Amino acid sequence: MPTTSFRTFTEKEVNNQKIAVVFDSKTGGTQRAGEFIAEGLNSVDGVEARTFNIEKIDTEFANEAKGVILGTPTYMASLTADMKVWLDKHAVTEVGFVGKLCGVFATEGYIHGGADLAMSTIIDHMLVFGGMVYSAGGSKGSPTIHLGPVALSPNVDDYKELCEVYGKRFAEQAVAIFGK
Ligand SMILES: Cc1cc2nc3c(=O)[nH]c(=O)nc-3n(C[C@H](O)[C@H](O)[C@H](O)COP(=O)(O)O)c2cc1C
Repeated sequence: MPTTSFRTFTEKEVNNQKIAVVFDSKTGGTQRAGEFIAEGLNSVDGVEARTFNIEKIDTEFANEAKGVILGTPTYMASLTADMKVWLDKHAVTEVGFVGKLCGVFATEGYIHGGADLAMSTIIDHMLVFGGMVYSAGGSKGSPTIHLGPVALSPNVDDYKELCEVYGKRFAEQAVAIFGK
């Protein structure tokens, strides 16, 4: 006789605010930074964060999410072409931004390589889509994170703490707005 097995949902999956970290990444650096941010997000009580490459998003989770953080490698002092195409064609249906808390991050190969410009362009899209952009800026003391955290490749691990702090601040703001 076949047995039926039921998956047990964790308390985080049942009750918590979902936050989606969505990124483009060709050589893994931006993905790693996104995973560090997710660790910071998940350290906050009441939040469940998951990471997705733009090529493979759990759209049910992402649409349900109250927060969305987008990350891009810096290409030619801007976002990648693939990220731009995803924003133009798929972001609204796959994630949705209206009323969501929105954040950005980027990696770059060179200091002053243009990551701020890349993030600023993504923020433009978030505002056009109806999102609420947040970084905490300098309001939480050191480290000041202006538009979003930036990690320099190939040493992305050196920015683990920065990314985690950013994630924690973002999650605390999400809980402050939306509750646990
Ligand atoms: C086509 C291309 C263009 C790039 N342009 C820049 C740039 O303008 N400024 C910069 O600092 N780094 C630039 N880089 C380096 C990438 O931003 C950096 O390696 C990034 O961390 C890669 O992210 P990934 O590992 O997630 O793919 C470029 C890399 C490529 C392949």
